[in-house]
This record gives sequence, structure tokens and C-alpha cells, in this order.
Amino acid sequence: MPVVVLIGAQWGDEGKGKVVDYFASKADVVVRFQGGNNAGHTLVVGGEKIILHLIPSGILHPGKLCIIGNGLVVDPKVLLEEIDGLKAKGHFKDDSKLKISERVQLILPYHREIDVASEAKKGKSKIGTTGRGIGPSYADKASRSGFRFCDLKHPAQLEKKLKEAIKEKNIYLTRVAGAKPLNAKKVIKEFLGYSKRLAKYADNTSLLLDRLARQRKRVLFEGAQGTMLDLDHGTYPYVTSSNTVAAAACVGAGISPLLIDRIIGVSKAYTTRVGGGPFPTELFDKLGDMIRERGGEYGSTTGRPRRCGWIDLAQLKYAARINGLTDLVITKLDVLSGISPLKICTGYKYKGSLLKDFPAEVEIVSAVKPVFKEFKGWKSELGNIRDLGDLPSQTKSYLRFIEDQLEVPILAVSVGKERDEIIVMSEPFLAKV
Ligand code: GDP
Ligand code: IMO
Ligand code: MG
Repeated sequence: MPVVVLIGAQWGDEGKGKVVDYFASKADVVVRFQGGNNAGHTLVVGGEKIILHLIPSGILHPGKLCIIGNGLVVDPKVLLEEIDGLKAKGHFKDDSKLKISERVQLILPYHREIDVASEAKKGKSKIGTTGRGIGPSYADKASRSGFRFCDLKHPAQLEKKLKEAIKEKNIYLTRVAGAKPLNAKKVIKEFLGYSKRLAKYADNTSLLLDRLARQRKRVLFEGAQGTMLDLDHGTYPYVTSSNTVAAAACVGAGISPLLIDRIIGVSKAYTTRVGGGPFPTELFDKLGDMIRERGGEYGSTTGRPRRCGWIDLAQLKYAARINGLTDLVITKLDVLSGISPLKICTGYKYKGSLLKDFPAEVEIVSAVKPVFKEFKGWKSELGNIRDLGDLPSQTKSYLRFIEDQLEVPILAVSVGKERDEIIVMSEPFLAKV
């Protein structure tokens, strides 16, 4: 069972980074396949906190290969800052351990400007994007006017292409977006600099991954964002601009779906969402504030407070189906200690009837009435527990209910932010019995 895809099963920030960092010790390769630096994946190892935006969360394990697949949009400025930041802290000593697909799309300064300007224009109905230029960059990819990593290998051509693109985007920035024009000379100089520093990481990562998978190397795919932020399957238009579901791993890394053995969905023991859009189990009271404070629920990328609410099985059932989850990891269980009763949403009612599936219209998602089942909470702190049997009986009932309802077995439960604060039931790279 060597190829495993791990994705966020909710609205992002489920603790994917922590779980990937933990499982990376058992993997040979860790691969990001979509998104960009809208992601913020937090790793805490021996008290040291590292937030990764682009580089896969296997990077703290020397010797593991980290791949940035073709499905991402990469801001070279942010990538260099991340590389330099890791090196300054004594990590990522071997440059050969990072490979970036030549086909990856680039984020240019005008993508960031357009992102921020178009959000400002939307006013109250804004999506609440991270402002990192993600949507505009994916839009250029789809309209076939983007820049790719391989362009960095050809400076003369890059300069010519940049001149033309900036000329065109400046018309849009000044006349439509109401923003300032970009200085073409400055941007070109900046990108020729990236060319010098980054071209060495470029590789044919699809070919490389195919070879590694066929050698039975253990490959761990690391999703960014979460299922409900998926461009097709999420709460559109309050979504990101990439496909975040497990199937995207194949397209975003250039591998066959037949190579994938297992799909792990990560969910918090409750729910959070950052940015706009419907959130049926959201808590607007002191309890929501308490979860935010106990869970440190502030964005890893933007620092924005995250909206908090109860765990939502109507949403998670949908995520289990869309992704084809074979395993579940529940994170942040420790945050719920001391809260009683706890609630689990088991379904949505709309106009008096129970809905069969997650609705397509955000207006309906906003109007549904969640049906809750109450659970007795537990008082004790869980951070030191490493064996499922040592959890309080109420905690076990809470987990068993989630597992039974979703019909997906729990592979691990995270009880703290540190790498080793986790209870692991089984190995992700082993065959299932
Ligand atoms: P990601 O985007 O899915 O990687 O998640 P983030 O890193 O954005 O947000 C998760 C936050 O929860 C980070 O601050 C983590 O350090 C923290 N975290 C992860 N797992 C746990 C856990 O089990 N318990 C607690 N208390 N914090 C956790
Ligand atoms: P990780 O990988 C949580 C949200 C934004 C906004 C919407 C669109 O850390 O889980 P974008 O900048 O992508 O155009 O914003 O998506 N969003 C995330 N929310 N976690 C993330 O990533 C997110 N990446 C984007 O807040 O609502
Ligand atoms: Mg995050």
C-alpha cells in the first residue's frame, strides 16, 4: 500500500500539515498537488513552530523527497522566502530534496493586485480570499495565458512574454480594477532573478513520481484547503480556485488514478471556516469564542479569526463520498475537553424535510436547520494520551459515533499540536486487513 492521498475533509485548516509531518517519517516522498500559498500548514516539532505555504510538510525530515506538482500555482517570491526561512532555521540542507514541476503555474504580482481589487469591488458579498492571487492565476491558466515554471529556464523568452503580459494587465489594473499600474522593468528584473535561483529545482515530476511509485516507494500526497472549498464540489462561489478533492492528486501530479491505494480524510473534532460563505453548524455564542481560544483558531496564512462550530456529519458524509475516503484522522480532540454537552450534526432539514445530500445552492446551505445529537463531554485533558483505550469513555463514544455514521474507520486521533501528540491506530502505508 505505498501511495496514500491525504486531504482536508472540511473547510481547510483541519491539521493536515501536522498529520502529514507525522506520517512523513514512514514515507519516501511527500507531494503537494494543488493550491498555492493560500495554504498555511503548521508543524510543531520540539516546541519549534513552522508554517509552510508551498513546500510539502515532509521537509523537516531530512532525506525525504518533497515534490511540488504541476497542479499548484506558485508565487516565486513566497517560495524563495520559504526556502530561505527553512535554511536559516537549519532545515532543508539538501537542495536535491525539493523538485518542482516544470508545468507548475506562476503567480505574478498582477495576480495579487487583481485578487485584492476584485474582492474590494465585491463589498459585502466578497469571498474573503487570502489575497494571494490564487484565483486570478488559475484563471490565467484556464484561459491559457499563464506563466509556467519552465519559463524560468528561458530568460530571453521570459522577458519578452512578461513585457507583453504586463502591458495588457496594466490596462485591466488601471481601467477596470482601479489599481496602480505595475512597473514592467521592475517585475522583469525580479523574475530574471527568480530564474537564476529557482531553475535548479525544476523537474519532470510526473515522470519521476511514476518511476518512484512503480518502485513501490511510499508516496504521501498532501492536500491543501478542504473538500468544501473545492471549486466544483464546495460551497461555490465561496470556494478556492482549485480542485481540493482526492481525485485532484492524479491531475495535479500527473499520475494514474490506478496508482492510488488509500485516501485519508482529515477532520477536526469540530468545524472551522475562515472567509465568507455558509456554515450550517456555526456557533455565534461564547462557546464558539471558547473553541476559538482553546483551539488557537486564527488563520495560519492571514491571521484572521476562524469561525467555529460543531462537527457536521451531513457535510462529512458528503466529503467521504466525494473523496472515497478509506480512512479518517480526527484532530484537535483535546480542544473539546471541558465542554459539555457536545453536539454532533447528523443531518440537515430544509423546509421541514431531511435532505439526502449536500445542497448545491449556497442559499439552501445557508437556510438549512442542522439536526443535532447531544453527547456528554469529558473533563480531563487528552494531550498525554497515546493509546485509544486510555481515552475517557465519553470521548470514545463521541469518536465511535462519528466512525459508525461515516462508515470510515479512524486511523489516528490528534490530541495536541506537537508532532508526537497523536494516537495512531494503524500504519497508513500498510495493506488493510
Ligand atoms: P492545515 O492547514 O490543515 O495544515 O491546518 P493549520 O496548520 O492551518 O491549522 C491547524 C492548527 O491546529 C495549527 O495551529 C496546528 O498547530 C494546530 N493543531 C493541529 N493538530 C492539533 C491538535 O490535535 N490539537 C491542537 N490543540 N492543535 C492542533
Ligand atoms: P489550508 O491548506 C482555510 C479560503 C479563503 C477563502 C477561500 C478562497 O491551510 O487548509 P483563495 O485565497 O484560495 O482564493 O480564498 O478559501 N481558503 C482557506 N481556508 N484553509 C486554507 O488552506 C485555505 N485556502 C483558502 O479563506 O474563504
Ligand atoms: Mg491551514
